[in-house]
Amino acid sequence: MIILGVETSCDETSAAVVSESVVLSNVISSQSVHLQFGGVVPELASRAHLRKIIPIVEEALEQAKTTLAEVDGIAVTRGPGLIGALLVGVNYVKGLASVLQKPFIGVNHIEGHVYSNFLENPDIELPLLCLIVSGGHTQLVILKEHLSYQLIGTTRDDAVGEAFDKVAKLLGLPYPGGPTIDKLAQSGDPEYVQFPIGLAKENTFDFSYSGLKTAVLNHARQLSAKDLKNHLTNICASFQKAAVEVLVERTIRAARTYQIRQIAVSGGVAANSHLREMMRQRAGEFKLKVYFPNLTYCTDNAAMIARAGQERLQQGFRSHAELNVYPSLALGEEKS
Ligand code: KG4
Ligand code: ZN
Repeated sequence: MIILGVETSCDETSAAVVSESVVLSNVISSQSVHLQFGGVVPELASRAHLRKIIPIVEEALEQAKTTLAEVDGIAVTRGPGLIGALLVGVNYVKGLASVLQKPFIGVNHIEGHVYSNFLENPDIELPLLCLIVSGGHTQLVILKEHLSYQLIGTTRDDAVGEAFDKVAKLLGLPYPGGPTIDKLAQSGDPEYVQFPIGLAKENTFDFSYSGLKTAVLNHARQLSAKDLKNHLTNICASFQKAAVEVLVERTIRAARTYQIRQIAVSGGVAANSHLREMMRQRAGEFKLKVYFPNLTYCTDNAAMIARAGQERLQQGFRSHAELNVYPSLALGEEKS
């Protein structure tokens, strides 16, 4: 089955061709127009998607040495995400599918992140404990069987990627903050400040990041400009340690509580080097298997949308011309 995937939920215009978990192409155009604003400007994102979508799809087909005639189905992100950005992808795919008379399927972006793990590991056993960590989501979910989810924990305020981005901004670092903090933290001392861990006293699988963000802000405000500069790497390392520790603790405890032996981490923050190291270490101590997608498939990409779409199409799901976009669609939520 050859699937064309299209992703336009935020600031990446991406198209990919995937055949049975093998990625034949995955073209991603990241919009640089937002850099000067320190965050994504929705209207500019929609316009950039409009300009790029056709050339990006053409490039994905070309790199995969595939034609539209050979494609068996098309998958497109229908939510969650920015409404105008989602509309570009969904309407383009609706038109394409109608002209080609091919099946198409609207995919939940978070489901795409979950299925990014199956791109290079098609034989992961279920049930699978999934930690989804991105700019918009921080969730612990059990994938009981394919496309069937049980939510066991979520953030009560900021998502972890959002915390990385906000902390970077208050430290004067560029957007998106995650990769920069990850890099700076490598030469910093994680023991420099003990930042608080969200919901530390509660027996919960939920997360909270607003207190950690405020603690970093308060700490930075106490420092002179010179000290802030001198301790920048230490602050990054201390923040990252606190942000990651809670993810690892909740995930390992959930795996033991629900007796699940396989863990899969996905989403942009799954690219974080400290998270990858700590999760592997702790999982190893309990003889749990842990999967991370290849770095390319952690942040937003269309290959993961194609892979999730393939699962849905194989199970007989189809979308229709009336398919709508849903900016705050939840994982597992069925909407036409
Ligand atoms: O999955 P993604 O591309 O988009 C959403 O669905 O939100 O995730 C983007 C998020 C951003 O918050 C970004 O700062 C974060 O992932 N991120 C990282 C790293 N790379 C990207 N956070 C920590 N460490 C990284 N290496
Ligand atoms: Zn994402």
